[in-house]
Amino acid sequence: MLAIIGGTGLYHLTGMVATHRKVVRTPYGEPSGALTYGRIGEGEEEIVFLARHGYGHTIAPHRINYRANLWALHEVGARRIVSVATVGGISESFVPGTIVVPDQIIDYTTNRDQTFFEGGDQSVVHVDMTQPYSEAMRRELLAAALGCGIAVVDGGVYGCTQGPRLETAAEIRRMGRDGCDMVGMTGMPEAALARELQLDYAALCLVTNAAAGQGASTTEISLGGMRDVVDVSMHEVHRILGAVVGS
Ligand code: HPA
Repeated sequence: MLAIIGGTGLYHLTGMVATHRKVVRTPYGEPSGALTYGRIGEGEEEIVFLARHGYGHTIAPHRINYRANLWALHEVGARRIVSVATVGGISESFVPGTIVVPDQIIDYTTNRDQTFFEGGDQSVVHVDMTQPYSEAMRRELLAAALGCGIAVVDGGVYGCTQGPRLETAAEIRRMGRDGCDMVGMTGMPEAALARELQLDYAALCLVTNAAAGQGASTTEISLGGMRDVVDVSMHEVHRILGAVVGS
C-alpha cells in the first residue's frame, strides 16, 4: 500500500474520497493523528494519508513523533511512502514555487529519536543511508510529474534543521557551503526511520521561500509569502500525487 505523509499546507488530498479513519497506537507512542484511508479518482488502490503536523497543524517539527508515524504506517501495511514537505530554497535556481524530488540529505537536527533500535537486548543496527531515498519511488514521482506536464527538479540536497525557528542568514550560507540546495525541518529522522523499516520512501518538496539571506529574503522571510506560494502551487503537488496513485 502507498502512504502519503502530508506536510505544511497539505492536510488532506484533493480528490481523495475518505473511506475510514484508524487510530493506531504504537510502542513509541501516538502518531500525529488518525490514519485516513481513501481512494483518489478512478484509482482502485486504497491509500493511507497522515498529516505530519496533525490535522490542525498543531505539532511543531521538533515535537513530531516520527517513530510513531512511520511505525503506524508500516503496521497497517504501507510499504511505499511519499513524504510531502515545504522547504526554503538555498540554491539560486530553487525559487519559490519550484517542486523538487531530492536525492540527498544532510541532517542538522539534534535530540530527536533517530532509531527504532535502542539497544538493550536488541542488537545494534546500522542501516545504509548512502542513498537516503528510494530510487524506485523517486522515479515514480518524476514520471508522475512528467505525465502531468509539471516541471520538477530531479535531485538536490535537503538540509534538515531543528526548528521551529527559521535559520539565520549565516546558517544558510554555511548550509550552502555544505552543499545543501534546500532547507526544511522534517526530512530527518523520517527518512532514516523509513529505511530502518525497509520502506520505499521518497520526498516531494515545494519551495515556499528563499531561505534566510537568499534572494528576496535578505532582511526577513515573509510568512505570508510562504502561505501564498502554498496556495498557488500546492495544487500541482496534489496533481502529481493523484498521478502516482493512479499509476
Ligand atoms: N527553513 C526551514 N524550513 C522551511 C523553510 C525555511 O526557510 N521554508 C519552509 N520550510
